[in-house]
Amino acid sequence: KPVILTCAQSTGKLHLGNYLGAIRNWVSYQEGYECFFGIVDMHAITVPYNPSELRKSSLDCIAQYIACGLDPAKCSLFLQSHVIGHTELAWVLGCLTPLGRLERMTQFKDKSRKQQDEGSAGFIGSGLLTYPVLMAADILLYNADRVPVGEDQKQHLELTRDIATKFNETYSPTFKVPEIDIPKQGARVMSLQNPQSKMSKSDPNQAGSIYLLDEPAVIRKKFQSAVTDSDPDRRISADKQDSGIPNLLEILSAVSGKSIEALEGEFSGASYADFKGAVADAVVDLFEPIQAKYKAISQDKSELNRVLKAGADSAQKRAYKTMSKVYRKAGFVERI
Ligand code: TYM
Repeated sequence: KPVILTCAQSTGKLHLGNYLGAIRNWVSYQEGYECFFGIVDMHAITVPYNPSELRKSSLDCIAQYIACGLDPAKCSLFLQSHVIGHTELAWVLGCLTPLGRLERMTQFKDKSRKQQDEGSAGFIGSGLLTYPVLMAADILLYNADRVPVGEDQKQHLELTRDIATKFNETYSPTFKVPEIDIPKQGARVMSLQNPQSKMSKSDPNQAGSIYLLDEPAVIRKKFQSAVTDSDPDRRISADKQDSGIPNLLEILSAVSGKSIEALEGEFSGASYADFKGAVADAVVDLFEPIQAKYKAISQDKSELNRVLKAGADSAQKRAYKTMSKVYRKAGFVERI
């Protein structure tokens, strides 16, 4: 079976972008593929964080994944820190990765600028720079065929493909060069308050992000206060590029399965308020069963730990095979 691997940061707060751009797509791969879904707690420490919150949110994140439809009987759900090999492989790959390439990554530039602005006394950990190498290791450790991600991960995935090729050329063919799999819709959900920037949990304006666990009333309020435009032409059209309308249309299209053109027709003549109400209703309906399932499973810590153990065991088996090959090719003496 072809192998699917993808990961997300351990956050207790998955948002609509994570769901439409990533998790929903992961769920669809569970039949017919061997799936590995990781929560990257080691990536989470590349920026200032709180250890006890991290521990809590990693478990909570697993509960949200299961609630979204990831079935531990059909895929491996694991924590990155539970599998030996991610950082070991990252070291070997890092030695093949040009420094300049890492310095030019847009996410590094954004995050390091942000940390400087927030006054972390000029301290930017080198982990933030080498973050994409660890990400390449996450993928190549499982020799994944495809990696389903949202649009914002494209640059990281291109680097992963180049690192895989470089390893294969330097030593001998070892890694598959993984395919980047970005969904047609929902790959870049934007903030409801600032449609020029992507929906994100670190956005200082939290009214712009819809969370999986937001109460229906909160979801409705956030959509009602979503920015649109002050154009006297009140058409609901995807052409209004500088407004919030295309993002709202895209969200409704991704949730309802209706095309953008069909929605433009359906809402021609509707008020902005009615249109926003319809988008809110669709998202509330989408999240309702997920929230109910989350309530049922999130309290059962021993079940969540059992899922993580099973996930780590199967991930470790595959990781071990890759690592012994990589160490042998790199010229390390076999440990007997
Ligand atoms: P993370 O945790 O930021 O996001 C998890 C997934 O959600 C997608 N996503 C979005 N999609 C659409 N619209 C948005 N506004 C939006 N925000 C996030 C992301 O593209 C991603 O698919 N570096 C990765 C984690 C990672 C990884 C990996 C991913 C580490 N190792 C190996 C794939 C393979 C990240 O921070 O994702």
